[in-house]
Amino acid sequence: MEDKIRVMLSEEELEQRIRELGAQISADYEGESVMMVCILKGAAMFACELAKRITVPVIMDFMATSSYGSGTVSSGEVKIKKDLDLSPEGKNILIVEDIIDSGNTLNFLSHLFEERNAKSVKMVTMLDKPDRREVDVAVDYTGFTIPDEFVVGYGLDYDQRYRNLPYIGVIEPADKQS
Ligand code: IMP
Ligand code: MG
Repeated sequence: MEDKIRVMLSEEELEQRIRELGAQISADYEGESVMMVCILKGAAMFACELAKRITVPVIMDFMATSSYGSGTVSSGEVKIKKDLDLSPEGKNILIVEDIIDSGNTLNFLSHLFEERNAKSVKMVTMLDKPDRREVDVAVDYTGFTIPDEFVVGYGLDYDQRYRNLPYIGVIEPADKQS
């Protein structure tokens, strides 16, 4: 049986918010350039859409970390699965995440770029689930704050599925489907 997905944030809402974030980031980096670091795979769709709305010079790079297995609960420990191709030294780094949950991933990454002598380090997340925070992280830009539900779409997966949905949704349990 196909899972039923309840829409939490529509494509239009996401696109509108991404335009706003792009405008704000462009204003904040006026006269500077920015190196966007997209955290694979979840942030890929958001990072690409956001990059299109940023008007200062942008370079993009990609990193993969893991703090989850195939389940839905964070293990706490963060590992680098794929590192950057470009050096972050002396750059204005903007870490682009899909969602901040426990905070372990962004906490780990913000320290990593400081150690690697970035000129500045900021973070943007499409979604924030503050109820589940284990570590305090100062995120500079947040798309939407959402309740503690496991969401999929717009890059986010459940066991690698649903990344291609153009909206953010919640998988309805089979017993709730009519
Ligand atoms: P954190 O390290 O616990 O903050 O987890 C961040 C990562 O966990 C995100 O980059 C996602 O890949 C994954 N994650 C957390 N919550 C969800 C969710 O609701 N749906 C899909 N992935 C999630
Ligand atoms: Mg992720």
